[in-house]
This record gives sequence, structure tokens and C-alpha cells, in this order.
Amino acid sequence: MKKTVSPARKLNGEITIPPDKSIAHRAALFASISDEVSHISNYPAAQDPQSSLSCMQQLGVPITQENDRVEIKGVGRKGLQKPASVLDCGNSGTTMRLLTGLLAGAGVPATLQGDDSLSRRTMKRIIEPLRKMGLSISAREDAYPPLRIEKPMPVQPIRFELPVASAQVKSCVLLAGLFGESPTEVIERIPSRDHTEKMLGLEVKQRGDKKFIYSSLGHDIPGQSMRIPGDFSSAAFWLVAGAVHPEADLQLKGVGINPSRTALMDILKRMGARIEVSNERYEGKEPVADFSVKTSDLQPTEIHAWEVPNAIDELPVLTVAMACAGGTSAIRHASELRHKETDRIAAISEILKAAGVEIQEFEDGLEISGESGRRFKPFEGTSRDDHRIAMTAAVMGLCSNGDCTIHEAEAAAVSYPDFWKDMESVS
Ligand code: S3P
Repeated sequence: MKKTVSPARKLNGEITIPPDKSIAHRAALFASISDEVSHISNYPAAQDPQSSLSCMQQLGVPITQENDRVEIKGVGRKGLQKPASVLDCGNSGTTMRLLTGLLAGAGVPATLQGDDSLSRRTMKRIIEPLRKMGLSISAREDAYPPLRIEKPMPVQPIRFELPVASAQVKSCVLLAGLFGESPTEVIERIPSRDHTEKMLGLEVKQRGDKKFIYSSLGHDIPGQSMRIPGDFSSAAFWLVAGAVHPEADLQLKGVGINPSRTALMDILKRMGARIEVSNERYEGKEPVADFSVKTSDLQPTEIHAWEVPNAIDELPVLTVAMACAGGTSAIRHASELRHKETDRIAAISEILKAAGVEIQEFEDGLEISGESGRRFKPFEGTSRDDHRIAMTAAVMGLCSNGDCTIHEAEAAAVSYPDFWKDMESVS
């Protein structure tokens, strides 16, 4: 699908931010292996979290869904059944990585496949630790989906220091560890999102700059009745749009502000963005707030290595703010961006160049020559079927000086099905 985005005269109004994808995947998986019945509200209609639900149904978990309400009758740690057919994770790396850890640990033979984009993403980072745990996984070219959990094997607990900061890898190993007689220990030096340890209530110790997380058979898996908070990663598009558009005043409602997710807000604030946070509250265990963002005069910035995992999904749209800040900004230490739904460094650099931005590409990031008050030149570009690239391009279109064409715009539905509707409502 091709979308034409025209410059917005103003950006004004209120948006209810769609539910958090990362929390939803975990709620679906963890509720399934608890012994309780979980009632989850505000469950996302987005494709990725729906993939997690349908995989769990294929594994014999009784799940009913009515609008945004989901009831999951947990089957317990040992109750998952061998699926009758291949588990389709769609575009969702989180589904594939977390579910592989869970099923390998539980000893459920299964095959997990993904769409074209997911089939090109390396799974080596989970295959290696799972094999160290004695689990038998095979993959195309020993790295790419489809992944096969071949036969049930007992879990050998490991001590695993994460070689890349990745919440998906961390979660995969911890989920497999839940089936080991003695604890698996995961060590994290650079913090990544902490939903897994929080939602499972795992034992966590902080020693110096290292975080140690433990999982084992002895740990009870809690039910996951909750309301899913709004996705900060979806709010990010509006935070940037509001800050760079010349006539903007946006209110964003119900946004999750878990500190392991909100580095973008700190980065934008240090660039001078006029963002206000109000009505801070808790939804279940997660902190939530409302935001307002107004037209801002942005200064350039450089991203620290330790900020990268916390802002990893927001870095594409951050480049739009950088392009509109008066001076040179840089994102480095972010080679992980090349391993997402597409190579996001290449995709962003292509679109920004097409929109008249001077940009230098590095293996691990980008350097961007910003111009305060910039209007993007009308461009034609493709999302490369990546939801975050599609929405980043849309923000650029709103802040351009002519009609912009975005190909493969439907990708937005992977995390934010109402994105285009919300865009129309505020522009
Ligand atoms: C996610 C973790 C991140 C992020 C992804 C969702 C999660 O990936 O990019 O969109 O829910 O755990 P990595 O942990 O692999 O960086």
C-alpha cells in the first residue's frame, strides 16, 4: 500500500496511545504457563501481539478474546501441547525469540516460522545459549528461521553474560531457565527493558554495574491479570512530530513510562523539546502518565552508548528530530539497528537523503546535519515493510513542504493499526 502524506498546517489534539507490544507478548506467554486464569484488558489489536496469542492457542492454551479483552486459562508449566502445525510468528521477533526459549525449556517439539523479514533475522544469539543449556534447536543455515525444537531435553542451567544488550535474548534464556532444577543466571551489563523479570517476579540482584537475574523450576509463575499500558514506542512518533512541527500542541494519553523504555524522552528534553508529563499513576505494576508536547527549538545531541538499548526502537524517529535541530547530531554504538525488521540505519539514511538531509552513514549509526526550522523536501521512499520506518517517514511528511509518498505503508499495523487514523485526527 502506498500512502501520500501532505504537510500538516498544524498538529493539534489528543491521542490515546495504543497498548504496549512488549508487555502484551509477555502477558500472553506468561499467563499461558501460569496455573491461574488471567484477565487482560487493553490487549493490542496489532499484528505482532496477535501472533503471540495465536501461537499460544495452537499450543493448546484456552484463550478467548472479545475486543481488547483477553481471557487466558493458564495450563501451567507442563501443560503446553505439541502443536499440530507450524507456529507462525509473522513479523514478530519477540514472539519467536521468547517462545523458542519457552518451548525448548518446556520440552515441546515445534517449528517456528516467520514472514520474509523475520526469516532474514539471525537467531544465532538465542540458539547459542539454548544449546549451552543442552537444548536441541536447529535452524536454516544454523541461524535463520524456521527454527526447530527437535526433541525434549532436560534444561542444564547456565550462567550467561549477555554479549549484546537485548531484552529478547535475556528473556529467551530466562524462560528456558524456568524449567531447570537449579537456577539459570543471566548477567546484564547494559540495561535493556525489564518487563520479563518484573512480570515474572524473578529474583534480581544489582552488584556494581551488573544486574544478575535468576530463573528456575522453583519459581512460581504468576497470573497476568492487568490492563496493558500505552506503548511509549508508539508515543515516540507523536513526541517527535509535536516537537519539530512549527504549529504543534499534542496531548498523548495513557503512556507507559517504565524507566527502561523512556530514554527518548530524556534525549528529546535535553535537545530542548517542550514535553510535559502529568497525571503519573500505576496500571498494575507499570507506571503510566499523560504527555503534552509543543513546537520546540531543538538543539543537536549525541547519543551515549548506554542510552542505545533503552531507546533502540525510538532511534529511527529520533533522527527526524536530529534533522530539525540546529547543528550536527550523532547516533553511534547502534549497530543493533541493522538487525531489526529491516536494516534501519540503511532505511533511514535513504529516506532522510531523499528528503534533502545531509547524512553520513556508519556501520554503527548515523551523523546528521540538522537545520533548525527545517521543512523536509517532498520525497518518495519505502518503509521496506518495517512499521517503525513507515511511521518515521509519515512524521517527516507531516513536517515537509510538499506531498510525500511512502510505499509499504501498511507495515504500521504491526504495532500501531490506527496510526493513519490518528494522524488524520490531529493534522
Ligand atoms: C523487545 C526488545 C527489543 C526491541 C523489540 C522488542 C522486547 O529487541 O527492539 O522491538 O519486547 O523484548 P532486542 O531486545 O533484541 O534489542
